[in-house]
Amino acid sequence: MTPRRPCLAIDGPVGSGKSTVARLVAHRLGFTYVDSGAMYRALAWAARARGIGPADPERVSQLLNSVDLRLEPQPDGVNRVMVSGRDITQEIRSPEIGQLASEFSEMPAVREWMVALQQDMARDGGVVMEGRDIQTVVLPDAEIKIFLTASAEERARRRWIELRERGFEADCDEVLAEIQARDHRDSNRAHSPLRPADDAVHLDTGGMDIEQVVQRVLEIAGERNLRP
Ligand code: DC
Repeated sequence: MTPRRPCLAIDGPVGSGKSTVARLVAHRLGFTYVDSGAMYRALAWAARARGIGPADPERVSQLLNSVDLRLEPQPDGVNRVMVSGRDITQEIRSPEIGQLASEFSEMPAVREWMVALQQDMARDGGVVMEGRDIQTVVLPDAEIKIFLTASAEERARRRWIELRERGFEADCDEVLAEIQARDHRDSNRAHSPLRPADDAVHLDTGGMDIEQVVQRVLEIAGERNLRP
């Protein structure tokens, strides 16, 4: 029997670079990349499409029982996001959906539903999963746990560039305010707040480019004999 392949859990606040880093690391290791934030965004998108807000737990619970939400990892590493057969990969990237996702993610029922789905995706190992609670709640037994950080200003700058590249109009101060609001909500919620695991490797990505961060993560994987 081949041993189960390892899992890498990468967490950090918005703009820490975790999505790009996790996708590239997965690609180099030949592992599957799972963007857990995209799942929260997809749920927020589905709720909005049905006129359901985070203040309506009963209807959110009905939505969880009926929504067909899929994350389809593609060979190039991009996660195609599908809701009821519709491809919403691009639509969920707006700041508005990000904010809404953060609000829905505070609901325990939403988190329980997501965690079960994410654990199922990692069942056979060989995944690099990134998010907020991957190393603490979803995959506490992951072989490698990385916590990425950077100052709010640095993250706002990166996020501003990214939004503009995606064609969204953005004001620098507004992006910083949005990041600070999301940091606060994600770190202070009662249920599974953003925090590093006790055995996480902390990596401050300030002043590093993506390739340097990817190399550092691969080095950490190499030190633990996790190269494929
Ligand atoms: O990583 P992101 O910006 O795409 O995530 C959107 C929101 O989803 C984020 O503000 C908080 C929530 N989220 C979460 O609570 N837990 C995760 N594992 C991933 C995302």
